[in-house]
Amino acid sequence: MDPDDHVCLCFRVSLRKIRTFLAVENPPVASLISECLSAGTGCHWCVPFLEHLHAQHARGESPDLNVSPQRYAEARLKFHESGARDEKVVREAGAPSLDGAPPDEPRP
Ligand code: FES
Repeated sequence: MDPDDHVCLCFRVSLRKIRTFLAVENPPVASLISECLSAGTGCHWCVPFLEHLHAQHARGESPDLNVSPQRYAEARLKFHESGARDEKVVREAGAPSLDGAPPDEPRP
């Protein structure tokens, strides 16, 4: 994702805003990212991705999601229709797999 792409589509919270929030506030738990413009408190689609960004920050890495904004948004729409997250998109983004398996290796 690019910095201006939205991670939380419900509240239009960009990756850049989340990165800044993490850097400034250094929240001890991922759920506190909700204090950044209510990220994650709408449909809950973005919650595992917010958790992934928080984990990257905690490890001293630059928070990022390895998924295109188009694919991310399409998967969110399917999530709204089915109530289930597309495991492939979660893994592609680098977030922990919902079945506990490690995420896919980052793509070049
Ligand atoms: S996309 Fe973040 S709460 Fe819906």
